[in-house]
Amino acid sequence: MINDPSDKNKFPIADKIFKVFRFLWISVLEIYRGIETESFPLWQYCGGGILFSYYLLFNLDIWLAHLIESELYLEQGPAKLCLILFSASSGLIFYGCSRAVDRMKLVERLKKAFDYCDLKSGGLYPSFISDEPIDEFVRQMKLFVPGIPLQRFKDKKLELEAHFNVTIVKFFEEENDKTRINLIYSMRDLPSSLVLENPQDFVDCDIPIGKGYASQLKINLKDMGHMMVAGQTGGGKSNFLKTVTSILCLNNQNADVHFLDFKEGVEMMALKNKLGSEQKNFHTHDGAEKAIEYLAGLTDLLTERLNQIKISGAINFDEYLKKSVAVQPSTETFSKSEAQNKKEKLSRLFIVVDEIAQVYVKDNSSTKELKNKAREALNKIARQGRAAGVHLIVATQKPDAQSFDQTVKANMPAVLCFPMPSQVASVSVLGTKRAYDLNPEIKGRAIYKFGPTLHEVQTYYFQ
Ligand SMILES: Nc1ncnc2c1ncn2[C@@H]1O[C@H](COP(=O)(O)OP(=O)(O)OP(=O)(O)O)[C@@H](O)[C@H]1O
Ligand SMILES: [Mg+2]
Repeated sequence: MINDPSDKNKFPIADKIFKVFRFLWISVLEIYRGIETESFPLWQYCGGGILFSYYLLFNLDIWLAHLIESELYLEQGPAKLCLILFSASSGLIFYGCSRAVDRMKLVERLKKAFDYCDLKSGGLYPSFISDEPIDEFVRQMKLFVPGIPLQRFKDKKLELEAHFNVTIVKFFEEENDKTRINLIYSMRDLPSSLVLENPQDFVDCDIPIGKGYASQLKINLKDMGHMMVAGQTGGGKSNFLKTVTSILCLNNQNADVHFLDFKEGVEMMALKNKLGSEQKNFHTHDGAEKAIEYLAGLTDLLTERLNQIKISGAINFDEYLKKSVAVQPSTETFSKSEAQNKKEKLSRLFIVVDEIAQVYVKDNSSTKELKNKAREALNKIARQGRAAGVHLIVATQKPDAQSFDQTVKANMPAVLCFPMPSQVASVSVLGTKRAYDLNPEIKGRAIYKFGPTLHEVQTYYFQ
């Protein structure tokens, strides 16, 4: 614990010596941490020093001095060796010292903040353990706080935020250790509620993901193929699916959108109200029975589509579309069979499934066979659907091996994860605990993942 400032100056010399040793020790620790976590910017700090040490090592100073007839050089000997060693390691020393200065400044700021918020126990302040970046805008601070309950930090959230000029996202204790608490905080703010102001801009399979710290995020399903939405109950999965479905329907009139609602049509009502009965490309399948029946028929449909694409000479759906536009006949030569072909021209298909885990619930009812077919179809679409112009957007609370097909999961390049109840659950979706760090009280807050890149976003509220 950090001592109360009133204890200072009882032993001034000892205090100063202690401070110097502490500073050196922190510098060494910072160097070690930088190397261990590979965050040490080697060339930025050491580049100049290393080059200069080579300059001395190869006696280039002597050579240069002879060349320009100068006396500015060092003869070989212990002094030169020391200088070589010092310049080679100077960057490291400078890095350690500058990090130690930053750390000590932070500790001073923390002390003031804890004083201001009266977060002390028996005259001692919480001690600082670490402050690490989670991503570009979000950091995690760890504190040692014996004697101060977590609730007291939560009560002082607003004061701490005002003092540090940050947004505190979450406080949590270490597992089985109430003396260590973690603060997740962000340097920038995201709105806690957001309405999409430009839905008409998302055309040709574009869909909005949300607003990130740096910019608005959108993806194109033609490129992405499929998308998985995960997160604990009440996070905002169904809301996101509804936003996406309405945009896909309204802005892609040549595509068909099927919304499968395993919650017996509960989520569908708002969508139906928004899109109305006039929306011809919007198809609904309310309830588990109808949804499974529809999915079960998709294996044959996918095979047919792939055949049709192959017959047209295209290698995928995008090429098929281009070819079919190119061979559009003129009105005079429009024969009957060509008319038939045009009528049967494939359209892009978006299949949006809410609560997909229902397909994987094991039971022995009469629907067992149909369910197996539905699972098979999902598996096939995940693997081959993109080439056939069939795209899946599926939502589930937890995509673990018991409640989701792991092949389907592996074929979902885009992942949107709302808050998760545990670190393990978050790791199973994103590969990191990032979704556990989100504040579940902020509805619609999620982490978007594509490849190794993660973005915190506020998704749009469906109206
Ligand atoms: N982006 C958002 N902005 C504001 N409120 C939101 C947002 N997303 C969801 N909500 C609100 O959060 C609540 C829960 O949302 P939603 O039903 O989408 O959660 P869910 O993840 O589908 O939960 P479940 O797994 O239980 O179905 C709703 O009342 C909704 O209005
Ligand atoms: Mg839902």
